[in-house]
Amino acid sequence: MNDSILEQLLTKMVETSNNNITITDENGLILDSNPNHWTIYGLESSRNIGVSVFELEEKGILEPSITAAVIKERKPIQILQQTKTGRIVMSTGYPIFDVDGQIIRVLSYAQDQTEIKNLQFQYEQLQRKIKGYQTEVEELREKGSPNLIFRSKEMQHITKTISRVAKTDATILFLGESGVGKSLLARSIHSQSDRLKEPFIEVNCSTIPESLFESEMFGYEPGAFTGALKQGKQGLIEQADGGTLFLDEIGELPLGIQVKLLKVLQEKRIMRVGGKKERQIDFRLVAATNQNLEEMVNKGTFRLDLYYRLNVIPLHIPALRERREDITILIQHYVHQVNEKYNFQKSLHPSTYEALIQYRWPGNVRELENLVERMMLIAEETTIYPDELPNSIQGINGENMRNNGASLESLMIKEKNLKKNIEQVERRLLQQAAEACRTTYDMAEYLGISQPSVIRKLKKYGISIK
Ligand SMILES: Nc1ncnc2c1ncn2[C@@H]1O[C@H](COP(=O)(O)OP(=O)(O)OP(=O)(O)O)[C@@H](O)[C@H]1O
Ligand SMILES: [Mg+2]
Repeated sequence: MNDSILEQLLTKMVETSNNNITITDENGLILDSNPNHWTIYGLESSRNIGVSVFELEEKGILEPSITAAVIKERKPIQILQQTKTGRIVMSTGYPIFDVDGQIIRVLSYAQDQTEIKNLQFQYEQLQRKIKGYQTEVEELREKGSPNLIFRSKEMQHITKTISRVAKTDATILFLGESGVGKSLLARSIHSQSDRLKEPFIEVNCSTIPESLFESEMFGYEPGAFTGALKQGKQGLIEQADGGTLFLDEIGELPLGIQVKLLKVLQEKRIMRVGGKKERQIDFRLVAATNQNLEEMVNKGTFRLDLYYRLNVIPLHIPALRERREDITILIQHYVHQVNEKYNFQKSLHPSTYEALIQYRWPGNVRELENLVERMMLIAEETTIYPDELPNSIQGINGENMRNNGASLESLMIKEKNLKKNIEQVERRLLQQAAEACRTTYDMAEYLGISQPSVIRKLKKYGISIK
């Protein structure tokens, strides 16, 4: 090839390349360049022959110029440029030397990285989001199931223990008043265990008559007794094979049945009524009661050996009034749920919250759930005031109120000074909110004021959140 053909070829290559190529002489004067690539620097499409890169650098168009850097450093260089048009460009320059080691040409490539950088940014943002979700999922897992609502240290401790022991086959015994969430927690153990895809069989021991207990629990063979199904029946324990057997209200079991149950728990084998061969059943046992089993053992109404069997990991679920921190968040949860369900936009006035927090809740979460739903359904206005509560909860001086629930008179100071009296009431309300809430944001919602105001007032009265 002669020189003119070579030159033509080179010119065409530079012009048509997908790469943004620039060739300069030793002084940085452009000999040829890919015309289109200048648009990323905010210039017109042109080969820019004869233009000096130093000039372009001075004008701030190339910031910095890769060619200028190569001439100075006398070696290949790569830099990232941010152009005036906001694009990010990766530039790579190479010096070409003559036989004496003098630079005669500089060849450079520019690659627009903006899209890649954008993608990278989006990718990083996604990663951050995923991380956030991961922590959320972990927190939810720790809570057992998404619909388990709590905030108190007591419940945090219990759910942590549950997460720890769920994967084992250890027997768990839930103790606590009616409606505290024993059944819900039993389900959460199952859903956190490796048995989660297998059945969760819930048996309420108090609802099965003694005479039917064996046939219900162990099942029966065909023709075992009059009235039996022709094909026989699988018992509840058999149905739990591979999964979890939850015996609720275990304190209600008659003594005669207790012996039979103990045998099954020890051997993990059952014999259907009227059957001849025993069947091996693999189940994890969870039991619950609102009775004091120890007391029952002392009285002789509950077998000691069965008690020992069940009492491997006892978990006492405190009554709602013993963990008042959970009340607010539970109310909020049910208010939200009812609003969603019926397309309402109702809310409770802070003083209604206050009355509910002070109530004794003998029926615990179940009572709270029912009461909130009923109240929301009945209320005509969007804001629900305490006068819509049942009398037993409303009564300021009723026996259901906590002892420290103060009436207006008892809050008044001796002086008839309005400002001081108002401060006294404000202090009292803040103390209550600080007891009921975990964060200043919750307090703000609870009191219906802004969070900065909460901070200011806490400081003013020297109150801190527990
Ligand atoms: N922490 C909680 N978060 C959300 N809902 C709860 C919570 N605790 C209890 N509940 C709800 O309260 C109601 C009563 O709970 P659950 O049936 O588990 O109580 P229990 O202790 O088994 O009562 P019982 O002794 O009468 O069987 C259920 O509707 C349950 O979903
Ligand atoms: Mg229950």
